[in-house]
Amino acid sequence: MADKLTLSVIKADIGGWVGHSSVHPAVSAVAERRLAEARESGLIVDGRRGRVGDDTALIMTHRGGGDSEDVHKFAWDTFLLMTDVARELGQYGAGQDLLSDSFSGNIRGMGPGCAEMEFEVRPSEPVIVFLADKTEPGAWNLPLYKIFADPFNTAGLVIDPNMHEGFDFEVHDLFEHKKVVFSAPADIYDMLVLIGAPARYVIKNVRRKNNGEICACTSTQRLSLIAGRYVGKDDPVMLVRCQSGLPAVGEVLEPFAFPHTVAGWMRGSHHGPLMPVAWEDDTPSRFDGPPRVVAYGFQITEAGMLGEPRDMLGDISFDRARQTALKVADYLRRHGPFEPHRLSLDEMEYTTMPMVLERLGQRFVDVPADTCD
Ligand code: F6R
Ligand code: MG
Ligand code: MG
Repeated sequence: MADKLTLSVIKADIGGWVGHSSVHPAVSAVAERRLAEARESGLIVDGRRGRVGDDTALIMTHRGGGDSEDVHKFAWDTFLLMTDVARELGQYGAGQDLLSDSFSGNIRGMGPGCAEMEFEVRPSEPVIVFLADKTEPGAWNLPLYKIFADPFNTAGLVIDPNMHEGFDFEVHDLFEHKKVVFSAPADIYDMLVLIGAPARYVIKNVRRKNNGEICACTSTQRLSLIAGRYVGKDDPVMLVRCQSGLPAVGEVLEPFAFPHTVAGWMRGSHHGPLMPVAWEDDTPSRFDGPPRVVAYGFQITEAGMLGEPRDMLGDISFDRARQTALKVADYLRRHGPFEPHRLSLDEMEYTTMPMVLERLGQRFVDVPADTCD
């Protein structure tokens, strides 16, 4: 394990500037200082602060393996320190994602989102870290399917002999806490039955078929299922390794040229387009949205250094996707509180809607089944 590198991305909403739209620079500065200290102390090999909307991601390489207690504790303590500053500055919802009082060995189940991949670094290791705000983990189902299973998206599935076998997808049932592995292309129709319902079924990771090597992974925590009540959307992250027998950088970015519809947006209760944006546009505004995704590209070195990130979705080739997203946003917004802009009733169960329905309950009276007036 020692020679393997772990890429851990641990993220949380520590408080918004202003409302739920961004992160105050002084709060971000705490994350940056802590990452620099952890690098100096040798806890991590390298670290960068990522941001999308009101979420901060700690992007770290280290040798501690997945679920490293030291790395998770470092992230938790960093979020606590950020919360102190957020409170001082009156940031909105300071510490909102820290659902537990004390750290107990692992950050999973405590509120923050987490995605980790452990792998042997290739001589050149291009990795893209996607961060999304105002949406939920299932938002990655469609792009991951396209990247690793759709030859109309990924030419390499047809052309590159190293990819021709296809990939294995691990899909989690977030409600029943079960998982199943699908082998693409053989199982794609079965898989689509599940992943087409992204509120419940989420692709956790994708592996190479011949050797089980990790290619991509996502954060799958659902805050409402942890807290037992609505506490905002989960704002997931996704890590994807690229090139040399894996999908090329351009194949990994290609699905985001289509701003597909996701659940989230205002009050975590509306469908809207997932708009790809440049880093400087990562601030959900209109109706607290639309939901958006940014991408940090890294060229990881053999020594495990992340180096300087590149803004992978800022390019002009995504301008048209942004325009489409804005058009779709206009169209959907005109539905106001009506479905399908507003989520369906069973999904609203994980918002504050049950409280309203409970109150209304006393006003309902029975109507005989055959009555027509
Ligand atoms: C959605 C989100 C926002 C809030 C909304 C209400 O994920 O973060 O849309 O749900 O601004 O926020 P509160 O209830 O904090 O006033
Ligand atoms: Mg927030
Ligand atoms: Mg957020």
